Amino acid sequence: MTVALDVQAVQVAIPHHRTSVLAVTDVAFTIEQGEALGLVGESGSGKSLTLRALMGILPPRTSQEALRLSYGEAAGHRMAMIFQEPLAAMSPTKRVQDLIAEGVMATRSVPRRAARARALELMAEVGIPQPAQRARAWPHELSGGLRQRVVIAMALATDPTVLLCDEPTTALDVTVQDQILGLLDQLRRDRGMAILFVSHDLAVVATLCQRIAVMYAGQIIEVGSTHDVLRTPKHPYTAALLQASRSRSGVQTSRPIGGSPPAPETFAEGCRFADRCRAAKDVCRTAPYRLATVAQQHATACVRVDELGRDVL
Ligand SMILES: Nc1ncnc2c1ncn2[C@@H]1O[C@H](COP(=O)(O)OP(=O)(O)OP(=O)(O)O)[C@@H](O)[C@H]1O
Ligand SMILES: [Mg+2]
Repeated sequence: MTVALDVQAVQVAIPHHRTSVLAVTDVAFTIEQGEALGLVGESGSGKSLTLRALMGILPPRTSQEALRLSYGEAAGHRMAMIFQEPLAAMSPTKRVQDLIAEGVMATRSVPRRAARARALELMAEVGIPQPAQRARAWPHELSGGLRQRVVIAMALATDPTVLLCDEPTTALDVTVQDQILGLLDQLRRDRGMAILFVSHDLAVVATLCQRIAVMYAGQIIEVGSTHDVLRTPKHPYTAALLQASRSRSGVQTSRPIGGSPPAPETFAEGCRFADRCRAAKDVCRTAPYRLATVAQQHATACVRVDELGRDVL
């Protein structure tokens, strides 16, 4: 296996009154070539800030306190990112072929004609029917699903080895969501592209990703294969997320997670989930954060993992 992206540390500060606080603190992970890693967690856990820090497009007034990453051995590594709202990524005054061609020209030194021809190929690759007819369409003329395909083509135009996806299917209806997930999966396999896929929805992540990292209050609290994380979660927060998502799909009785995640200015020492955790003991409030390996390729930040039974996990 070849590492496509090795993230050793991401820390992001956000403004708070006259000072700043860290909203993303302990984020580190690797993604292999041709692998999709899902990043899941409740709203506000720091998923978007993490991706924006990696991409170098943090919002104004936020700042990168640490960013250490390296790519695998192969040369020419590049990241591209797609967002929840495709229209925001597209200039309204450019036709779709030109939007895609611009990415091609920015990456390969080719004349406009060749870039526009390449744009048509990319439109076909992302499953846009009759690319030649759609080439002169304006972004606002397209359906949500087609817009997201155009945005994916714009990303592919830069020949990315790593594709960062921030909830790219959340705004789409379920059928179109499945089609876009299918497309991303195909691109991963065909191109050997690495994907970092952010979603608050475990079920969505599980369909696309081989591994899952769970984020809570600015930290990754569990990471493992999709199979292991779903079948044998090793952190009470992951188990609670699973309960909540199963109850939504009606498979099991409802057990929503009580309380709400802490705001960055209130991040405490020890486990940040302790206040909402049914299994928390004193040690949880003092033990420093550490992602410890509990099984092959499966790690958790829960210090009490060995003592917890199936009622919690
Ligand atoms: N531009 C900003 N200025 C100030 N605070 C911000 C900014 N962007 C994010 N935050 C704060 O940083 C924390 C992490 O936000 P982030 O957007 O990364 O969460 P998220 O996991 O992507 O959530 P969601 O699922 O709602 O998209 C939150 O507390 C949020 O309020
Ligand atoms: Mg977000």
